[in-house]
Order: sequence, then structure tokens, then C-alpha cells
Amino acid sequence: MTLLDAIRGRHVARHAHRLDEAEVDLLVDAWARAAEGAGFVRTVSTVTGPTVIAPRLVHVVLGPPAVLTVRLEPGQTVTDLRALARRLAPHLGARALRVEPLGVGDHARVTLLAADPLADPLPLSPGPGVLIGRGEDGRCLRVEPADLPHLAVQGATRSGKSRWLYSLLGQLAARRDVEVAGVDPSGLTLRPFVDTRHARRQVRGLADLARIEAVLAELVAEMDRRLAAMPARLDVLPLDVGTPLLAVVLEEWPATLRALDATDPKQGKRVRALVARLLAEGHKAGLRVVLVAQRAEATIVGGAERAQCEGRLSFRVDNAESLRLLHPDSDDLAADHATAPAGIALVGWPGRPTFRLRAPYVASYGEYVAAVTRTTLGFA
Ligand SMILES: Nc1ncnc2c1ncn2[C@@H]1O[C@H](COP(=O)(O)OP(=O)(O)O)[C@@H](O)[C@H]1O
Ligand SMILES: [Mg+2]
Repeated sequence: MTLLDAIRGRHVARHAHRLDEAEVDLLVDAWARAAEGAGFVRTVSTVTGPTVIAPRLVHVVLGPPAVLTVRLEPGQTVTDLRALARRLAPHLGARALRVEPLGVGDHARVTLLAADPLADPLPLSPGPGVLIGRGEDGRCLRVEPADLPHLAVQGATRSGKSRWLYSLLGQLAARRDVEVAGVDPSGLTLRPFVDTRHARRQVRGLADLARIEAVLAELVAEMDRRLAAMPARLDVLPLDVGTPLLAVVLEEWPATLRALDATDPKQGKRVRALVARLLAEGHKAGLRVVLVAQRAEATIVGGAERAQCEGRLSFRVDNAESLRLLHPDSDDLAADHATAPAGIALVGWPGRPTFRLRAPYVASYGEYVAAVTRTTLGFA
């Protein structure tokens, strides 16, 4: 290397360094303004009046992706910051933010993402429990079947409700300690279970409306038997192969209710009452309802029943009111969600603020059928 090259090299390095410094300055500045704009600040009173303090950036990696380390102000939490991510992101030049706790929760790591973190399909990978989907933070929501809440699922036609249900049922079918029951007006969702041990408390199609009431009444009777047999020292029934979790799927539930109401409104009422009992008392007896509708309106799921559904998934819905019904805290997310691609849901889950989730992708109906029959036929 000649002396000239060496000088030039040093010059380039110094130049690049200066550019980096300028970029860091821009980010620090953008962060302060974004935090102030979103109200993510601490206000202290001083002699000259209230002063606003935005949490400081203590470290910046330019990336890409750029990663900011934020020292939170007293009283601020990582959860607060996560809730504001959508408001902050555009002002940091990002499509979305990933927010993770650091230290004891007094710092946060904020990654600036250039693309929607939910853009890629999520394969149904094996792991503990059942995979419900993946959040924007990249973490998968997995739960043991016994820890599933009652679920209300809504979404416009072709928003991904059935595919998500296929993924759930395909996984549940593989479990010896789960029985899949329910009512399916088109018959397609429960058809793979025809020759399996699950079929006895399932109704496919709307040809025999009396059987719908009979099967739901049988599920309520089973619930009552379990509640009566509950050991005195327990208030939640332990589940095993002999006492499986009963997943009661009500696919396209409004279609079933319409058929019942049109034929015999009294039967419609009785069926609603049976489902209300499953929702109110089923949880401790090992029954879970999975209610699917285009809109979770009051005529489909009354307020009391909706409140029992602690798990809520809203795929794309065409009106903000339906979204508010299941996720009262979702106003920030509503506008974006109106055009969400198939397979992306807003989720309410016990103990969490509303979050976006990518549902697992079952490539085809055939794959779903294969998943159910592969694991269940042997046990029929
Ligand atoms: N998780 C997903 N990932 C990618 N594409 C999906 C996903 N879920 C659904 N889709 C696409 O959307 C289409 C409609 O989904 P479907 O579950 O039948 O909707 P719905 O039951 O809400 O009418 C599917 O055929 C598929 O092409
Ligand atoms: Mg469907």
C-alpha cells in the first residue's frame, strides 16, 4: 500500500464514520420526536412548569436492521412501549418495530423492521402443545390443549378462518387426550374425522337439525357428569385419555342458527341455551368451545357468552364495529386490519394486550385431511 492509499483509506474511513454519526444523530432526534408525539414521556413539574422527558437512547446499532436501546423512564414499561409501536414506527422510518425487554425491564431493545414481520407464511412446525400462530415479535404462541381458553373466531369470507381451524384441528387430532366434537354446516371441516373415534359427537351438514340439539345436549350432559364427579379437593378436572379435553367446534355458527331459527325458533333458542351453558361451565369440566362466525355480533354470541370467550381471533373483518366487539382496545389497529391479507389475525388472549398474529399455514385441504387421518385412524 502506498502512503497515498493509506491516507485515502483513512480519509474514507473517517468520512464513513462521520456519515454514521450523522445517521445516529438523525435517529436519536427522530426517536425523541416520535416518543413525544406518541406521549411516551414522563412529565415532571419544575419551578418553571411541567417538563417533558422522553426516554433516552443509550445505544444505537445502525444495522440494517437498526437496533435502538432505550432506557425507560420510571413508570414506563416495555408493554407500554410495545402498545405504541405502531405510532412510533413510521416516524423512525420503519414499517414495524420489534420491542424486547432488556435488563430487569428498565431498558428495551427496539428493532426497526423494514417489512411487515408477519409477511411470510408460518409452517406448522412440531413443538410443545398446539401452535396458534406467531406474533410480530417473532415468538410463537403455543399452548397445551388443557390451557386453551374458549375461543371466538371471526373474519370475512376467505380471510383465513377455516385454514386456521384446520391447523388447530389437525394438531388436536394427534392428541390422545383430546376429542374433537361440534357442528359444521358445510360438513367440510369435520369430514376428515368421519371414521375416527371423534365422530360420535359431531354433526356434519344441516340435513338433521334435531341431531344438532341432541349432540349439544349430550355434550352438556357429559359436562354435568364431569362436574358431578369432580373430586372434592379439585375445582378443575384433570384431563387424560379417559377424560379427554372436549373441543366443541361450532364452524360457521350463524349458518346453523339461521337454519334452526327458520325451521323451529324454539329449537334455535334451546340450542343457544345449550351453547351458553357449555361456555359458562365447560371450562372447569374440560370442555372448550371454538365458535366461528363472519361477525361475532350480538345475535350470534350474546354479551355474556362473548365474555366467556377469553381467546379471540379476528381475521380481516369489514367493519370496525365487529372488531371493537371482540377487541375493545384495538382502535389503533383497526384501520390497518381492514385490509389484512388472509391468515393474519388480531388476537385477544388471557393476560395480554391485543396483538397481531400470523396463523399457521396448512397448504391444502388434502394436507389437513392427511394430518387428521394419519394420526387418528389407528385409534378409531
Ligand atoms: N394462514 C394463511 N397463510 C396464507 N394464506 C392463507 C392462510 N389462511 C388462509 N389463506 C388463504 O386464504 C384462502 C381462504 O381461507 P379460508 O380459511 O377458507 O377462509 P374463510 O374460512 O375465512 O372463508 C385460502 O384458500 C388460502 O389461499
Ligand atoms: Mg370458512
